[in-house]
Amino acid sequence: MSGREPAIRVTLLPRDTNPHGTIFGGVILSYIDQAGAVVAHQHGASRVVTVAMDKVVFHAPVYVGDLVSFYGELVRIGRTSIIVKVTVEAAPPGAAGPGRRVTEAVITYVNVDRYGVPTPILEAPSAKTPGPSPASTDQGSQA
Ligand SMILES: CC(C)(COP(=O)(O)OP(=O)(O)OC[C@H]1O[C@@H](n2cnc3c(N)ncnc32)[C@H](O)[C@@H]1OP(=O)(O)O)[C@@H](O)C(=O)NCCC(=O)NCCS
Repeated sequence: MSGREPAIRVTLLPRDTNPHGTIFGGVILSYIDQAGAVVAHQHGASRVVTVAMDKVVFHAPVYVGDLVSFYGELVRIGRTSIIVKVTVEAAPPGAAGPGRRVTEAVITYVNVDRYGVPTPILEAPSAKTPGPSPASTDQGSQA
């Protein structure tokens, strides 16, 4: 994944752990959802809701203190829906080289108006995946 910019990058903390001491999968899913939404917005969606999360695979555990990067990749834009694949990599703080791939998921978002009614996506002409300005966040903040 070198040369690509993540949609979100976070450091995970002890409060994010499960009873085994590794990071709770639901925390990872929450960030995946946010990262995919960042990519959906880069491609012209204005207000999205998540309608489906498919094929979530947890390949390896994430540990407290890991720097976790969420990379988004456009899969398909429909009329009102947009599908994004998110790949998650984790690395110990200060580690050189690419992180280890820990999780991936495919998410479908629907572009909606302020009443929650599906509305067409007007694809952004300059859209890139991922965008030029990654949203680096502290723990718990949203991109
Ligand atoms: C998303 C939502 C507005 C879609 O409503 P709907 O009545 O199914 O809308 P439509 O039938 O017009 O479908 C809209 C688009 O969603 C897609 N879609 C609907 N259900 C889907 C599903 N289960 N999986 C994948 N795509 C789906 C349709 O294919 C369509 O895509 P297109 O316009 O690109 O062809 C509605 O299901 C909803 O509000 N869900 C809750 C969303 C939410 O609150 N998410 C947060 C989780 S707490």
